[in-house]
Amino acid sequence: MKFSDSFLDEIRARLPVSQIVSRRVPLKRAGREWKGLSPFNKEKTPSFTVNDQKGFYHCFSSGKHGDVFTFLMETEGLSFPEAVERLAGEAGLELPKPDPQFERVAKERLGLLDALEAAAQLFEDELMTREGRDALLYAERRGLTPQTLKEFRIGFAPQSRDTLKGALLKKGFTEAQALEAGLLIKPDDGRATYDRFRNRLTIPILDAKSRVIAFGARALDPASEPKYLNSPETRLFDKGSMVFNFARARKAAFDKGELIVVEGYMDVIALHQAGFTNTVATLGTAFTERQMEQLWLLAPEPIICFDGDNAGEAAAARAIDRMLPNLREGHSFRFAFLPHGSDPDDLVRTKGAGALAECLAAARPLIDMVWLRELRGHAIDTPERRAAFEERLERLLAEIGNARVKDHYRREVKSRLFSLWRPKGARGGKQPANAASSQGAGGATPVPSSYGFATTITLALINHPWLLDRFAEEVASLEIRDKPLAALLGFVTRTIFEGDGITRERLIEAVEASSHGKLLAKLARESAFARLAFLQPESPEAEVEEHFADLIFRWRALPSLNRELQEGAELLSDGSDAEFEQFAELQQQVASAGSQHASDDAGDREFGEKFKEKIAQVTRDKGSWQKGRRPDHRR
Ligand code: UTP
Ligand code: MN
Repeated sequence: MKFSDSFLDEIRARLPVSQIVSRRVPLKRAGREWKGLSPFNKEKTPSFTVNDQKGFYHCFSSGKHGDVFTFLMETEGLSFPEAVERLAGEAGLELPKPDPQFERVAKERLGLLDALEAAAQLFEDELMTREGRDALLYAERRGLTPQTLKEFRIGFAPQSRDTLKGALLKKGFTEAQALEAGLLIKPDDGRATYDRFRNRLTIPILDAKSRVIAFGARALDPASEPKYLNSPETRLFDKGSMVFNFARARKAAFDKGELIVVEGYMDVIALHQAGFTNTVATLGTAFTERQMEQLWLLAPEPIICFDGDNAGEAAAARAIDRMLPNLREGHSFRFAFLPHGSDPDDLVRTKGAGALAECLAAARPLIDMVWLRELRGHAIDTPERRAAFEERLERLLAEIGNARVKDHYRREVKSRLFSLWRPKGARGGKQPANAASSQGAGGATPVPSSYGFATTITLALINHPWLLDRFAEEVASLEIRDKPLAALLGFVTRTIFEGDGITRERLIEAVEASSHGKLLAKLARESAFARLAFLQPESPEAEVEEHFADLIFRWRALPSLNRELQEGAELLSDGSDAEFEQFAELQQQVASAGSQHASDDAGDREFGEKFKEKIAQVTRDKGSWQKGRRPDHRR
């Protein structure tokens, strides 16, 4: 409905901004204004001001500015009409009478909504009948509790072609209404209309006011296509702006300040049941601009879950392109990668809520994804290739629509490039080609293997015990297969914990005095990792922290990447130049890996060792890695 300006002004006049704002943000008087902590950003000193005379609030930390209506829209995710409706009520004003034209359209809409609601009820009832028994068993097999079935209003559409049609007509709906609601199908050849959803588990799709506007329906028969049949676009159901579970997730997302975005119906339902009530789905569609706006109504940086396989990575890459033009101040997305081959539903069911929480905690900001995507699959070991990398990034950043955000992206990329190109004194003469590129993600990590990572992490903790404070959880969740090394790390973490603020020197003394002393001495003497620059005691704290975070991130990415390397290593069997080049490319992909996986593949340590041998062999036979390499941009 269109509201008149005078009506809106009347509401503004009756409700001081401070009154509405102070329910969410404690305000203090400051002269003619009020001050408080920004509800949009975490901050310690108040930069959020409210001016009742002028009728607006302004947030200096986020640049947000608005009146009572926008405040509710920004902080509670209401639409404009919803905000007006709510505030009119508080101001003691009645909503203006809609014009007759509007009323007629509204009534027709209501007809459709009623038909959809009736269908939802019928399906719910059918699930509890004898015919619905298989569907109910299916839902139970998938671990859905009776409470979840009720909460999501899950139902069953029977096999027959006219159960729903008959029921709707009997209730007085017209065939035209049922058709328009997307509940019936009309064959082209003029034969009778029939029920769209048959022999399927039905999941109602609700609008922001929790009214049924469409259905998704899962096939029960594995042979039946498509797996999910959805309502067609209707006057009520606009797929491009649809976000499944928006209404239910709204409050939870606000309370937690966080939103999880998954792909499927069942993912949302399973996550809700596992306690992640702040979850919505985009239902396998491309990420539209309107969907992004919807998501941002719920949280400033929704976390999007991707499958950790190639398809998931490709989807993430596509999402980046769609996101960049739409970024705004304070609004972005984060990327979480699930273990290879499992969707969120599988993950919480088989590994529990904790496993998902871990993936979410490791979610990467958009800037990292942009960076890694452009780095991956490209050599950057010559000035020309580095220039090409820079150019690719520059071209990508040009896509960002918002000038301020673009400016900050440019600065960030500039500073990352700066530290990437900066010569590292510690690095010796002949290095594999990937030594340069591996820093792309932040650290100068040599050829990765589980053993190598574990060694580096252990040495890092010994040299910088304070790291444990910041990465306790990550370190605790590492699985190290090599027993002596695991024991050493265990001893080190225990000693740091117990030694509250223990220095490097004391820690080393303690290790040397223990049964792990020999191993440490061996590592310090023999391991190439011990010479990494960031492990040196004098290395600046920020740099150490960045490298360490990167290391842990890549450790988790290892298993699937090692499969790629396995292929690369096989190519090397006769060591021809072309094959060798392919290997180098693969190796680089590993070095700049962006996805995150649980470290659960057997034998990647052995592989890591073999891999190192191969490299040693090749470098001996062929001389320097750098020699005669041409850029290879196949992908
Ligand atoms: P998936 O194929 O990943 O299915 O599609 P899923 O969600 O894991 O389903 P289950 O666990 O096998 O039941 C992801 C989403 O893509 C849409 C649906 O929204 C689905 O949840 N989709 C998929 C369709 O709309 N139609 C299809 O035929 C398949
Ligand atoms: Mn699934």
